[in-house]
Amino acid sequence: MAGEHVPVLLQPLLRAVAPVSGTWLDGTFGAGGYARGLLAAGADRVIGVDRDPLVFAMAAPWAGEFGDRLRLVQGTFSDLDSLAGEPLDGVVLDLGVSSMQLDLADRGFSFLRDGPLDMRMGQDGPSAADMLNAADESVIADVLYHYGEERGARRIARAIVAARPLTRTAELAEVVSGCLPRPKPGQSHPATRSFQAIRIWVNDEFRQLVDGLTAAERALRPGGRLAVVSFHSLEDRIVKRFMQARSNSAGGGSRYAPVQDSAPATFTMPFRRAIGPDPDEESSNPRARSALLRVAVRTDAPAGAVDADALAMPRLPKGDR
Ligand SMILES: C[S@@+](CC[C@H](N)C(=O)[O-])C[C@H]1O[C@@H](n2cnc3c(N)ncnc32)[C@H](O)[C@@H]1O
Repeated sequence: MAGEHVPVLLQPLLRAVAPVSGTWLDGTFGAGGYARGLLAAGADRVIGVDRDPLVFAMAAPWAGEFGDRLRLVQGTFSDLDSLAGEPLDGVVLDLGVSSMQLDLADRGFSFLRDGPLDMRMGQDGPSAADMLNAADESVIADVLYHYGEERGARRIARAIVAARPLTRTAELAEVVSGCLPRPKPGQSHPATRSFQAIRIWVNDEFRQLVDGLTAAERALRPGGRLAVVSFHSLEDRIVKRFMQARSNSAGGGSRYAPVQDSAPATFTMPFRRAIGPDPDEESSNPRARSALLRVAVRTDAPAGAVDADALAMPRLPKGDR
């Protein structure tokens, strides 16, 4: 594993949700940076949820120092209300993979470190290799296009099918790179978008996000805070549309406005815009460059159903799984 994990946007998040008290749920516990930050900022208790069992083994040496102020639970944040089992004063989600998951070649997330083609955050269910080796070429192309905004999707899908069975991340990175122009200096690795898309597919990340936001609406007390950090525009768009729709602030002409036209708002939005890193964090932590934080505050209106299509959740034409 490479250097110590540096939590992204932690200080802006703590400022945006201050004052912190009561019971918070960190739905993406990872290396525990947010959980520790919330406990230090005044949370009475934090419930740390992660789908990856390895993070709890990694937290074992230090988690005990917080006694019963820190409860760790393996599970997905789509179920955060039932995992919490109690009303919450705050929910934080720091989306995507952790640096630990990216850095461990064995987890199969990285195009820079060769490893088994795995990409499962929860280490259960079908791996990236299982899914890529079984899927129709058109489904692979849809995944690359809809989940990665990859314009070379059809070309890459054809090359993946021709190269099957694929078992290693380096093989996949080579197949993808062979279909795209050589990157210019400063441009990202050609496999970036494809690896992102396949990871989202394997972990059903957009469905997780929509269900997690809805579960947070059910779990939060009036006045409770929801804070979400996202790393790419497809994720951020879902978070933004959710918060706008649930606070009835989608704007008059928007086709998303009818989602909650007549129902009372379940959230308010204390900040008009997403919050990004300050210049110091941007220069010291490259992962922070694309990070965006959005915050919403729960009202006392009853929780309701959310229409995933109205949140612009990217969908695969032939079904998401
Ligand atoms: C970016 S890291 C979080 C880092 C954390 N905020 C910290 O400061 O250490 C994301 C973590 O969320 C977990 N994760 C991603 N999606 C999840 C989901 N749907 N349910 C539960 N955990 C999830 C990943 O396994 C990973 O450990």
